[in-house]
Amino acid sequence: MPAKDTFVEHLERQGISRRSFLKFCALTASSLALPAGTATVIAQTLGAIPRPTVIWLSAQECTGCSESLLRSFEPTLEGLILDEMSLDYHNTLMAPAGAAAEASRLQAIASGGHILVVDGSVPLNDGGAWSIVGGRSVLDVLQETAANAGLIIAVGNCAAFGGLPGAAPNPSAARSVDDLIQAGQLDLGAFPPPVINVPGCPPVPEVLTGVIVHFLALGMPELDELGRPRVYFGQTVHDTCNRLPHFEAGNFARSFDDEGARRGFCLLNLGCKGPGTFNACSTVQWNGGTSYPMRSGHGCIGCSEPGFWDRAGGLYGPLF
Ligand code: SF4
Ligand code: F3S
Repeated sequence: MPAKDTFVEHLERQGISRRSFLKFCALTASSLALPAGTATVIAQTLGAIPRPTVIWLSAQECTGCSESLLRSFEPTLEGLILDEMSLDYHNTLMAPAGAAAEASRLQAIASGGHILVVDGSVPLNDGGAWSIVGGRSVLDVLQETAANAGLIIAVGNCAAFGGLPGAAPNPSAARSVDDLIQAGQLDLGAFPPPVINVPGCPPVPEVLTGVIVHFLALGMPELDELGRPRVYFGQTVHDTCNRLPHFEAGNFARSFDDEGARRGFCLLNLGCKGPGTFNACSTVQWNGGTSYPMRSGHGCIGCSEPGFWDRAGGLYGPLF
């Protein structure tokens, strides 16, 4: 197989200017809260390395993660993985189908070192019949694809923590990627690739972009005890919420349409889970930095935490 071209060589052929590439690197460095000079390091490194192969494997999921991530603004994940990386397999986006699709996956993983993105949780009941890819259980396909990967990213709450399929009564015995590894049901061999959890329902698009860029250009990001990159999951959404001054002043909305809600009072009594939810929503924000749930008038439902569907009190019950 011919050697892959570098990011810069590929971008030049696509007609994408170096200026646009540098802007992408600067925006990513900023979302990672890195000093401005780091953008140069990112640009130099990404400009010199071959484009990585990316395999995107979907298990029990709703395709919401892909939908969200492909609608990111700048730096665009779509641009990153479709134009600047080599996305060799994605159930929803790839052109080949059937046997040709599976052949693409096998060809892409042949030399190893690929980035494996997993969205969705993996069912164990009934021989895995709840999620079948190419006539095989997704656990089987995951085992084959993960064994010689260079990095595994569990994207979304389902892949990171079990998500909705894993909520009680969990009829399919849905498991996260980490659950499978810890139970010995996913064998990653003597030199297992690192696993990074990027939870959320769905995850913030720019967070996944930043994690991939960090890994490629700066090495493994530091992870918290749940396998999430601290740079994005190191503080709660409550810590930088626009309603925090009202929380501290004891001003709480009592309904979604009362005077307090209109004045931006804290939504804690309406079920907001912000104080117990670690994510970058109120810093990176959504839709190209436009807003996030609490700024838009709805409490956080804790979608980046384990077991958020089963939490006592449900989505609208009190956190405390
Ligand atoms: Fe915290 Fe939620 Fe209140 Fe914001 S609305 S200050 S996240 S409790
Ligand atoms: Fe999810 Fe809460 Fe952010 S619900 S989208 S972690 S504000």
